[in-house]
Amino acid sequence: MKRTLIRNLITIVGLLTGAALLNAGEVKIELGGNDMMQFDKTELRVPAGSTVNLTLNHTGKLPKAAMGHNFVLLKAGTDVAAFAMKAVAAAATEYIPEGDEVIAYTALIGGGESTSVSFTAPEAGTYDYICSFPGHFAIMRGKLIVE
Ligand code: CU
Repeated sequence: MKRTLIRNLITIVGLLTGAALLNAGEVKIELGGNDMMQFDKTELRVPAGSTVNLTLNHTGKLPKAAMGHNFVLLKAGTDVAAFAMKAVAAAATEYIPEGDEVIAYTALIGGGESTSVSFTAPEAGTYDYICSFPGHFAIMRGKLIVE
């Protein structure tokens, strides 16, 4: 009887420890984009392998057609300018072109809207993120640093 109780306690402690580890692997990020074509953060840091829950908030008022914003995370080594050029032609898919350069992306949103995406942080390194709406990447870009 006593032995079972101890065994159950050990199991519970084990489960709690496991849950704590899982929590440590989750990262929440809030990123803003405004009517001035700016992200409010140009550097994001996350642990390798963590689950990243990123929410993009469009804090402006302009409609999606005029000032649409998204978050597009690119694989290491991607030619950002070349990718952005390709994206311009991909209006039908919210400026996400075909290809394998993208690690994760959000929907395209207009003023006052929010959208989220979850992805697993890649291996340690530095990754570019941009808004792929035509003309925005030159200013709307930043680095995701995976540690
Ligand atoms: Cu934008």
